[in-house]
Amino acid sequence: MAILNYQQGKGLGKLVLNFAENHIKSLGIKIVWCNAREVATKFYVKNDYSIFGEPFNIEGIGTHYAMFKVLN
Ligand SMILES: CC(C)(COP(=O)(O)OP(=O)(O)OC[C@H]1O[C@@H](n2cnc3c(N)ncnc32)[C@H](O)[C@@H]1OP(=O)(O)O)[C@@H](O)C(=O)NCCC(=O)NCCS
Repeated sequence: MAILNYQQGKGLGKLVLNFAENHIKSLGIKIVWCNAREVATKFYVKNDYSIFGEPFNIEGIGTHYAMFKVLN
């Protein structure tokens, strides 16, 4: 996911994430996971995601972490 540079830091990323999580929950799914760019991990941590496993490189994009959240 990405928010346009000039619109970042206004809560839009959190809104998009919450919308996706609510949709996933409505399907009866209890856990969501993603591959997060290193620079985005703090955003996901703020939204209650945890890192699991080791960091890995995606060619041309950089270091990523697998992250997950249990949906309540
Ligand atoms: C990561 C991204 C989607 C976040 O979207 P955003 O609209 O800027 O984030 P929000 O304004 O909704 O921030 C939500 C919370 O996360 C925090 N946060 C967001 N980006 C952060 C960062 N890089 N470092 C630390 N905290 C961050 C905000 O401070 C906010 O905290 P608060 O609720 O306590 O105020 C956006 O910065 C982006 O598009 N980045 C470039 C593309 C990218 O890296 N995408 C992720 C690919 S996995």
